[in-house]
Amino acid sequence: MLDLRRQYAPLHQELLQALGHVLETQQFILGEPVSTFEVAAALHLGVSHAIGCASGTDALWLALASAEIGPGAAVITTPFSFFASVSSILRAGARPLLADIDPATFNLDPAAVQAVLAGPDGNAVRAILPVHLYGQPANMGRLSSIAKTRSLTLIEDAAQAFGAISGREAAGALGDIAAFSFYPTKNLSAAGDAGMVTTSSPKLAERARMLRQHGMRRRYHHDELGWNARMDGFQGAILEVKLNYIDRWNDARRAIASRYDNLFRGAGVAEAGPYPMRGIVLPHEVPGTRHVWHQYVIRAKRRDELRAFLAKRGIGSEIYYPVPLHLQEALSSLGYQEGDFPEAERAAREVLALPIFPELREDEQQTVVDAIADFLS
Ligand SMILES: Cc1ncc(COP(=O)(O)O)c(C=O)c1O
Repeated sequence: MLDLRRQYAPLHQELLQALGHVLETQQFILGEPVSTFEVAAALHLGVSHAIGCASGTDALWLALASAEIGPGAAVITTPFSFFASVSSILRAGARPLLADIDPATFNLDPAAVQAVLAGPDGNAVRAILPVHLYGQPANMGRLSSIAKTRSLTLIEDAAQAFGAISGREAAGALGDIAAFSFYPTKNLSAAGDAGMVTTSSPKLAERARMLRQHGMRRRYHHDELGWNARMDGFQGAILEVKLNYIDRWNDARRAIASRYDNLFRGAGVAEAGPYPMRGIVLPHEVPGTRHVWHQYVIRAKRRDELRAFLAKRGIGSEIYYPVPLHLQEALSSLGYQEGDFPEAERAAREVLALPIFPELREDEQQTVVDAIADFLS
């Protein structure tokens, strides 16, 4: 599914040198290795501020807390994402309200967001938190205009989308504030846990910096209840090296996605969608956006059988995500039931992520496509 050693091999020397510098300067927490990365990342994404932190989950919490989304506030997000998209809202003391996804992109459906806003809890909503799932930007044009009309904060969960673009702006610069994850499997990855908040608002940036260090503006003077959400120097140093390669890696992912597309079409197994009938439905890039293909996710009717068939041939695949968030045991107190978000529930039954990473070889892709074509025949 993913072989990170292939990324490491050519970077080996450069990474060791960067880690050596951290050891020599002994700046293990925040400090110069992190601030240098923050400056480079902000420039890369076209935002005024980047704030390195300990994980993507912390970045989401910091984004919410910086925007003063807490008790009494509700936040609209998607039921089809990683758990942290919702748990961070609860951790901030706010209430998640879910809205269903668009079956063609798996991203938050703006019409469903509007329906929640028009519903009984609409007046409590203070923020919208779209996720750029699999590396494809959510429909930010429509979500921004909804947010503007209702004076809501727009918080991007860009954990899977470093380098993605919508219109002329990068993910991370499309809302008021954004959260990235550098978990090792992400398209820009650390050697452990790490995350980042981005914003062009000086006020939000200043609050995020303060909150990631136990609410301190002055050493040992705590203005607010923050948390330890700091980034390690080693992670900053690694990320600064890898940032120089991210455009190349994203281009390679895009080439692989387009090759999958051609191979599947050539094999005659691709269906129009959005739902599979007998073959598979391929993912696509929404016009006007730049997808970074953090994942290449097909829809298949007999998904679990297909996955087992691939596993027998030694082909890795993954299900992101098998249980939508409204049906997670830990979130049962939100009061949702099966049937509440039919698109998310259907996606959870049909999605299958295939191997995609910059170093994936053409012959390996061909093997994946041949195996799926064999299964379907
Ligand atoms: C969409 C999404 N949001 C949030 C996170 C949380 O990031 P982390 O694992 O770095 O805490 C992840 C990654 O796992 C993610 O994929």
